[in-house]
Amino acid sequence: MANNLLQGKRGIIFGALDEKSIAWKTALKCHEQGAQLVLTNAPVALRMGEINKLAEAVNAPVIPADVTNMDDLKNLFEQAQAHFGGKIDFVLHSIGMSLNVRKGKHYTEINYEWNQKSLDISAMSLHRVLRTAWDMDAISEWGSVVALSYIAAQRVFPDYNEMADAKALLESVARSFGYHYGVRNKVRVNTISQSPTRTTAGSGVKGFDGFIDYAEKMSPLGNASADDCANYCAFMFSDMSRYITMQNLFHDGGFSFVGVSEAVVKTIEEGQQ
Ligand SMILES: NC(=O)c1ccc[n+]([C@@H]2O[C@H](COP(=O)([O-])OP(=O)(O)OC[C@H]3O[C@@H](n4cnc5c(N)ncnc54)[C@H](O)[C@@H]3O)[C@@H](O)[C@H]2O)c1
Repeated sequence: MANNLLQGKRGIIFGALDEKSIAWKTALKCHEQGAQLVLTNAPVALRMGEINKLAEAVNAPVIPADVTNMDDLKNLFEQAQAHFGGKIDFVLHSIGMSLNVRKGKHYTEINYEWNQKSLDISAMSLHRVLRTAWDMDAISEWGSVVALSYIAAQRVFPDYNEMADAKALLESVARSFGYHYGVRNKVRVNTISQSPTRTTAGSGVKGFDGFIDYAEKMSPLGNASADDCANYCAFMFSDMSRYITMQNLFHDGGFSFVGVSEAVVKTIEEGQQ
């Protein structure tokens, strides 16, 4: 359903790896709503070549940037502004990577060097992106920045490992930078805490199938899909959400406020018979 919610808006989308990526779906949705886009991902991810299909579909250039490299980020914001002929109205930060999860380390035994890298890629990278834009005054007034999070930032999900700490830090950076950017330029910064979703990053979590079924049974509306998350992002980039900032917004079919559901109790009772 296209109703030009983002007509005249210009945005940078980080993190479209393949067509399952939340960023991929968000790029399609923003394009459908009339936005102009620049796509970016880490050089190593771009080598897969998948993103070129998306670039064609949304008529956007692809500018490589490793989100932990300040020179790459500066180049990205410079090139994006040159491409648009002006400032940027919205940014999607859809990036996550855990070295300890990838290498199978238990939370109690994490390697701290890998942990530093995981926190940098998955959380402090939001600070790096905001800082780059801040230094260049690259985001328009009432601009909107959204990063994607997960409820393991607030509640324990043991197999989410060090990513739980990364998401807690990410949500905190959104609040802290959101304050300063709001005061200076009325720029909004929020996180969306999404249901478990079958993507490359999501499927890296141990026991993901059990995890996603449990969340489905716990959520009155069921798990929110990547497409619905993309709709929510488009709304957050639009002028319809102008006074929302520094929030962690649950997009999870109600999961976050359910203690236990009848469906989960029934499954446990059946297991006991
Ligand atoms: N899939 C889920 O269940 C789920 C649930 C809640 C939140 N999220 C979050 O949504 C976001 C997007 O993940 P996704 O599920 O679409 O998976 P995805 O694997 O498609 O996306 C992750 C992206 O991060 C990028 N990335 C990794 N290291 C990078 C670096 N150094 N520089 C730049 N980019 C880098 C990858 O190339 C990839 O495009 C992540 O923050 C993830 O934690 C996912």
